[in-house]
Amino acid sequence: MKQKFYIETYGCQMNVYDSELVATLLNKSGYEKTDNMSEADAIFLNTCAIREKAEDTVHNRLDNFQYLKKQKPDMLIGLLGCMAQHLKDDLFEQKPFVDIILGPDSYRKLPEIIRNRRQLEDHVVDTTLSRYEVYEDLFPVRASGVNAWISISRGCDKFCTFCIVPFTRGRERSRSLQSIVTEARKAVAEGYPEITLLGQNVNSYRTETGDFSELLEAVAAVPGLERIRYTSPHPQDVDDRLLQVMGEHANICKHIHLPLQAGADRILKRMNRTYTRSHFLHLVERIRQILPECSLSTDIIVGFPGETEKEFLETLEVVSEVGFDSAFMFKYSMRPGTKAAEYSDQVDEAVKQERLERLIRLQKTMSLERIRRHIGTRQKVLVEKESKKSDRQWAGRTDGNTWVVWDKTTETPRQIVTLEITDAKGITLFGKRID
Ligand code: 5AD
Ligand code: SF4
Repeated sequence: MKQKFYIETYGCQMNVYDSELVATLLNKSGYEKTDNMSEADAIFLNTCAIREKAEDTVHNRLDNFQYLKKQKPDMLIGLLGCMAQHLKDDLFEQKPFVDIILGPDSYRKLPEIIRNRRQLEDHVVDTTLSRYEVYEDLFPVRASGVNAWISISRGCDKFCTFCIVPFTRGRERSRSLQSIVTEARKAVAEGYPEITLLGQNVNSYRTETGDFSELLEAVAAVPGLERIRYTSPHPQDVDDRLLQVMGEHANICKHIHLPLQAGADRILKRMNRTYTRSHFLHLVERIRQILPECSLSTDIIVGFPGETEKEFLETLEVVSEVGFDSAFMFKYSMRPGTKAAEYSDQVDEAVKQERLERLIRLQKTMSLERIRRHIGTRQKVLVEKESKKSDRQWAGRTDGNTWVVWDKTTETPRQIVTLEITDAKGITLFGKRID
């Protein structure tokens, strides 16, 4: 009988993609994926270290596994991804029942490690980061759905002072343009109407055969590919060429996720974000000139060390001025090993919480105001899944990445339909089918 593995994924889309890579590697070596962890011979957690809360979730989850392991001592427990890379063998002290710790560049070793499980001395740790590993030749087995994630680069060299990613994912490296185009073609052949190009900094993508704009052009030319998204770009590396390429191709979605992080120049400098408030605002203006319909989303951190009330208000000002369609908002979380963790002027938890709530309140009104502009317009929407509220309604996203809910007619998932937008509530649009 085939050995079975079970995998749970935490964190960003890159981890979703990596879990698909791991599943591919294990399938190729004769292991079978199961969604039922009690029948698994090996359990993996693909983990995130971006904020303390993400790590806490995994610690709790691992504690549950300790119980399973008691019942089934032969079962392997493996920790993969950023938290594995961050904690390395320190984790064994707290959780001796974990068998394997592998960082994001070590997944190719996994089949061999499982194969030799009987000879496993004690624990296996591999957290060597590579300058070259991009898993170029591995095309992942995908979960179903409407979107295929495609990783175009790995690692990050920006070293924002709050961020653990450069330490957990190592140096930035780009995958070959040809390999990405091949993967996009495969996704189309498998029936995916949409792909999302993934990287920590997609627009610093660079190879001998092209930069990010050229890659986008090459992908946009793949026959049958209806929607192309990408995430995340760094504001510093967005140029007019990229915006022009987006404008020239109908299948590149007019949505940019542009992480602001903070609105005050002193904080941006301390974060090592390498742009100023005015640079960011100019960029937004440029985007709106070249791509008037483009929607914008962002990431914001409140309570970065040293952030004063006045500086926080500057973040609110930028949020009001830009009018992001949506935002991910976080309290700063201290990550050991990063530069900002050494700053002595950490902000009080209660202050962070209060700022977060004020920011969320403002963004809520901004989001609603922004998405209301679609009322009365026609939008092309990709049918994605049943609405959470009713099995008689579908939910799907517009080109600009806003969710729309409408009454089912004859359409089916993966189809693109035209809706007339009739209403907006919270962050969701409502519509009716008109094609
Ligand atoms: N604390 C809070 N948020 C963080 N992010 C990254 N590091 C931290 C941290 N230490 C946020 C940033 C980034 C997003 C992916 O996570 O906003 O853009
Ligand atoms: Fe982290 Fe900054 Fe790199 Fe994004 S650009 S992954 S926030 S270091």
